[in-house]
Amino acid sequence: MVTAARGGTARHTPVWFMRQAGRSLPEYKKVREGIPMLESCVMPELVHEITMQPVRRHDVDAAILFSDIVVPLKAVGVDLDIVAGTGPVVAEPFATRADLDRIPELTPEHVPYITEAVGSLVAELGATPLIGFSGAPFTLASYLVEGGPSKNHERTKALMHGDPALWSDLCARLAQIAATFLQVQIEAGASAVQLFDSWVGALPRADYLRFVEPHSRAVLEAVGERVPRIHFGVGTGELLADMAAAGADVIGVDYRVSLTDAVARTRGQYAVQGNLDPALLFAPWPVIEERVRAIVAEGRQAPGHIFNLGHGVLPTTDPTVLTRVVELVHSLA
Ligand code: CP3
Repeated sequence: MVTAARGGTARHTPVWFMRQAGRSLPEYKKVREGIPMLESCVMPELVHEITMQPVRRHDVDAAILFSDIVVPLKAVGVDLDIVAGTGPVVAEPFATRADLDRIPELTPEHVPYITEAVGSLVAELGATPLIGFSGAPFTLASYLVEGGPSKNHERTKALMHGDPALWSDLCARLAQIAATFLQVQIEAGASAVQLFDSWVGALPRADYLRFVEPHSRAVLEAVGERVPRIHFGVGTGELLADMAAAGADVIGVDYRVSLTDAVARTRGQYAVQGNLDPALLFAPWPVIEERVRAIVAEGRQAPGHIFNLGHGVLPTTDPTVLTRVVELVHSLA
């Protein structure tokens, strides 16, 4: 996985799935029973077990730390929760300059459970890489400003355009938090990191470049070249070249853009990750097989290709189909 991320050719195309740990697995539902999401994220032994479950079951080529993008915000004291079926919900949404005081900078001491879980995972995983991750400033800001998941991001856009100085200060703080959260995971042994800017596809390119790119760049530059950096968002076809150039080694591609187009848009200079539509896992197997083969073939045009879905595994996905996809990708040497 790391070889492909660095733009090299691996023995076979490496494969992992966003949200590979989670509700698609009965063993996940069992160990999470009665434990709220954010509580589970601060229990290192449980984090270890849940992170390992998809590696054992599917034989994927990477583990991704079981956590959530809002964990570092909770760690610095932001009053928020993850509501099942909804997502992160913030008690007092961010609105004014005074609210910046409620989001202090993150230090490694805020997240000892991350250091502990990553350390024990790396020891068990051996040669299999562990991917660390963080939410990117825009996506984190959207949850803070909207107070929860948002379709239109109207409050976020109103703040961005209405008070650019406050927006910039908020994103600078979130960049510090994201960079430190990634550095903690790298220090503890993570072999690669993914910056999730899941909702940034809501922005036109000019606004991305002015209001977001400098902050995401700050996060990726703070990480440096120690480990490969994957940069991913949903609906980011218009932003791919800029997101790659912001300091990524690998550009994450959602299912709306073909890998062929993604390679062209990034001038063949970046490894790519993606991009099977997670909803297609519900289609008959011959349809899935045809798409997987096509994606692996398209990925050969890039300097490196990591097979993944175009977004996270849907909770009702049949996990045996995921295992079959891994076997197929591995067979296409
Ligand atoms: O396997 C993995 O990918 C690692 C674990 C992981 C989780 N969240 C676990 C989780 C990762 C990488 C995330 C990141 C995350 N969290 C993102 C970026 C990735 C993306 O999907 O674009 C975002 C936007 C969030 C915010 C968030 N947290 C949402 C939208 C939800 C879903 C709410 C729901 O119940 O449908 C969560 C909760 C969450 N994070 C769950 C898991 C396994 C489900 C909670 C549960 O099992 O009870």
